[in-house]
Amino acid sequence: MILEMLNPMHYNLTGMVPEAMPAATMPILLLTCFLLLVWSYEDTSLIPGPGYCMGIGPLLSHGRFLWMGIGSACNYYNKMYGEFMRVWICGEETLIISKSSSMFHIMKHSHYISRFGSKLGLQCIGMHENGVIFNNNPALWKAIRPFFTKALSGPGLVRMVAVWYNSTVIHLDKLEDVTNETGYGHVLNLMRRIMLDTSNVSLLGIPLDENAIVVKIQSYFDAWQALLLKPDIFFKISWLYKKYEKSVKDLKDALEILIEEKRHRLSTDDKLEDCMDFASQLIFAQGRGDLTGENVNQCILEMLIAAPDTLSVTVYFMLLLIAKHPKVEEAVMKEIQTVIGERDIKIGDVQKLKVVESFIYESMRYQPVVDLVMRKALQDDVIDGYPVKRGTNIILNIGRMHRLEFFPKPNEFTLENFAKNVPHRYFQPFGFGPRGCAGKYIAMVMMKVILVTVLRRFHVQTLTGCCLERIQKKNDLSLHPDETRDFLEMIFIPRNTEKCQEQ
Ligand code: HEM
Repeated sequence: MILEMLNPMHYNLTGMVPEAMPAATMPILLLTCFLLLVWSYEDTSLIPGPGYCMGIGPLLSHGRFLWMGIGSACNYYNKMYGEFMRVWICGEETLIISKSSSMFHIMKHSHYISRFGSKLGLQCIGMHENGVIFNNNPALWKAIRPFFTKALSGPGLVRMVAVWYNSTVIHLDKLEDVTNETGYGHVLNLMRRIMLDTSNVSLLGIPLDENAIVVKIQSYFDAWQALLLKPDIFFKISWLYKKYEKSVKDLKDALEILIEEKRHRLSTDDKLEDCMDFASQLIFAQGRGDLTGENVNQCILEMLIAAPDTLSVTVYFMLLLIAKHPKVEEAVMKEIQTVIGERDIKIGDVQKLKVVESFIYESMRYQPVVDLVMRKALQDDVIDGYPVKRGTNIILNIGRMHRLEFFPKPNEFTLENFAKNVPHRYFQPFGFGPRGCAGKYIAMVMMKVILVTVLRRFHVQTLTGCCLERIQKKNDLSLHPDETRDFLEMIFIPRNTEKCQEQ
């Protein structure tokens, strides 16, 4: 009622004012006019979204993000207001977009190379103007990104295939380390260890305690996820964020010891060219005064967490999906046998594994790990007819886009969705353009090598009730889903033995 009263479209104000006004009426009228002005703010935007309602709208929309989680809130708003809509986060206008044409425009153009997130939250996790993933200072990001691109593509990639293969074999040989007394394995942990080991061997090269670091990485993700969109007021109450601060410190301290060891080795080793990996390049850049020590440490941290974060969960989802779809498993195994036979996988095989590739793509489409991308507009622009002001925050809801456009059976897991060539703009699990995933090529090769190595040795079966629907329900579709912890166990049955009956 109050909101309606304040709406000039519904009432004729002159009719509401009696001829002889009592003294108190004037201030009330002025206040009403002021509120009307504030109220009318919402109508200035052409973009659909909830109303401003004297500042209540921004509070409610940010509250919804904190309450539902980023992924669920984005899906809620897109469903409610359409695939190009506007909310507020931390009082700032934020677009949520799940339309392929708009997404393509944003990913392609260089005036969207920045991201957004709570400055205090990013400071707390060490990402504010440091590292690459959430570095929102375009000049600094531009200086750092080439270190990542160089390490994750080109000739280094060929050498890494042997590293990934060997690491997977070694970890599969000691499967008992992640298996409980009933024979079920904590597959996500297994994958995290493989990813951490391969990243470390190829990018830092200092022996580490995998188990301890994997646990610290998970806590770091929890902190990242929890703090990314927190309002500033949250950081005024220290006991609220203390535990996150501690998780961040734990990982940073553990990695600092390794990085110091690397610095020491570089300063004492004569054959420097043999150790010119990612970490060495950064340490030398620090020596030249191009980067700060803090930045070098953060870059190494981000490089070491990137694969255990994304790839391990993606491969874990793939194993769940293959366990549920025997026909897909059959097609994948047939191709592996035809292309590779009994020998070890080589880089030349990777391109020929087309069914495996479709399986990977369909898994990433159907059960994504990263389904949201955050960007910021650095210039005024017009996207699909909507004016977008400089400074606007943008969330690209890729997970939703992958279920809305192009695919013949969007809500089913089927290789038919990739039977035909899928135009670039309709499938973007890694993003693209200047700020796209720096590890997209390496990730595809890694997933193929690891999947092929696991599947040739083992048939995978899940615990009864360990099904994706439950994970999907629980999972917030967040940047770093951790809600899968209740549903982790799978059993690895060596090939050539009888399949277990589902219990
Ligand atoms: C299944 C695996 C992976 C998925 C689905 C994935 C997805 C993504 C997405 C969607 C982004 C944001 C892109 C954008 O803003 O347009 C991103 C950024 C990034 N990814 Fe990946 N990623 C994966 C694996 C990896 C791996 C293995 C690495 C490195 C070892 C990596 C390194 C990075 C980096 C450094 C960025 C930040 C790039 C920047 O801001 O300049 N990713 N990833």
